Amino acid sequence: MKKIFYITTPIYYPSSSLHIGHAYTTVAADAFARFKRLTGHDVWFLTGSDEHGQKIERSAREKGKSPQEYVDHIVEGFKLLWEKLLISNDDFIRTTEERHKKAVQTVFQKLYDQGDIYKASYKGWYCTPCEAMWTEARLEEGMCPDCARPVEAVEEESYFFRMSNYAGRLLDYIEANPDFIQPVSRRNEMVSFINSGLEDLCVSRTTFKWGIPVPFDPDHVIYVWVDALTNYISALGYASGDETLYKKFWPADIHLVGKDIVRFHSIIWPILLMAAGIELPRQVMGHGWLLLESGKMSKSLGNVIDPLELIDKYGVDAVRYYLLREVPLGVDVYYSEQALIKRINMDLANDLGNLVSRTLGMVQKYLGGTAGTPGQPEGVDLELINLAVDLPPAVRELMDKRDLSGALAAIWKLVGRANKYVDETQPWSLNKDPAQKERLATILYNMMECLRFIGVLVTPFMPLTPSKIWPQLNIKDKPELHTWDSLTWGRLPAGLTVRREQALFPRIEV
Ligand code: MSP
Repeated sequence: MKKIFYITTPIYYPSSSLHIGHAYTTVAADAFARFKRLTGHDVWFLTGSDEHGQKIERSAREKGKSPQEYVDHIVEGFKLLWEKLLISNDDFIRTTEERHKKAVQTVFQKLYDQGDIYKASYKGWYCTPCEAMWTEARLEEGMCPDCARPVEAVEEESYFFRMSNYAGRLLDYIEANPDFIQPVSRRNEMVSFINSGLEDLCVSRTTFKWGIPVPFDPDHVIYVWVDALTNYISALGYASGDETLYKKFWPADIHLVGKDIVRFHSIIWPILLMAAGIELPRQVMGHGWLLLESGKMSKSLGNVIDPLELIDKYGVDAVRYYLLREVPLGVDVYYSEQALIKRINMDLANDLGNLVSRTLGMVQKYLGGTAGTPGQPEGVDLELINLAVDLPPAVRELMDKRDLSGALAAIWKLVGRANKYVDETQPWSLNKDPAQKERLATILYNMMECLRFIGVLVTPFMPLTPSKIWPQLNIKDKPELHTWDSLTWGRLPAGLTVRREQALFPRIEV
């Protein structure tokens, strides 16, 4: 039986097109999904779009479109971006789909029937950009405590969800499952938020229409976060009549989300699930933000970094590498194109690209293009081989700790060591002495086997790069040598005829 792994990204608001920050979340989730597939798991990877709410309704009106027309157009752009970024999602859920509406209404009805949802009059403050309700007491200097923007007074008859009833159970769950909210700093924040007292949550609105109607009171639409969070089960067919995927993949292993929405995922979502009698996800992982020196990325400031432009300019694997290497999960990092170029020139062109081209160049030049059979390893060989052999378990451990950047750094240690190995063993000197033919063949074999290890290990992060290494090593049609399980030393056959091709990563001239 294969192990199951279910990972999700947030579903993005189609209020404008996506920027490099959104791309970061999805690329990180993709690297985890690909890594789990590579290591033999049965994976479900979900992303999608969060299409309801007042903000979307307003944006559509400003553009003179119906909300549905408006979101259809933007969601096309999302899908294109994910394709270009080589995102390997298994499904894409849109909250305007019937399958989703049905699941949301089923949950809402169930909670109402059992008395967890009740009707009352509501007076409070609404932050439209965050789609969040606040009581007077939670406001900070009269502004939204999350984003510090102005809030609007709202007074309406609404449905409320008895969140407060579940605070104790949620705290117990968080305590019993230390990995549930990660990183620890976020968990501590959430625990103090809950301890400061949970209020019942307003879960319906009547002042706008663009949402899923409350099934038993269609003048109300369901609060957009209750709607949105449910995507994680609606996409698996929850309440659809065919729950095969739901039974197989729920509970989620990771909900990967930005730090700004950890609260929704680790308080509202688990309480909704508890109330509905559904198992809780295993982990909510809150990542940090990509920041700009010029402030928050926004259309009005004209400082939005468009991932499509970067892909066109630098290539998809370079952009993915930069994001995953430069932005450790959980911390905030300033985006900079200089840093991206530096990573390309140093890590990719200089270190990895050069390793590939010099290895194959030497096999061509010294061995006439056909690699020989390796002889007995010497001390310097064993050092390299041991590093390579220890790498897969080390990378797996780092990935289990959600350390994408650390995993890449570990792989680059082998890249660096292999380059140093060439400098130490000096194949060009050995080539001058016919008696050293076997030694030369051994060294070049070891280099080639390192390239195979590196090719397999980078697959989850840079899906295109291995497909550029395999033909050069002449193992393109040997998929059995591209697998995780093939990472035992010496699986690369002797006597391969290789072919050096153009550089993997051209240097960027600044
Ligand atoms: N629709 C909600 C999520 C609902 S999930 C049930 C939402 N959408 S969003 O489009 O505003 O943001 C989606 C994700 O993008 C969030 O996790 C957010 O943290 C992330 N990011 C938005 N800007 C970002 C950066 N500048 N950097 C990194 N991530 C960023 O919230």
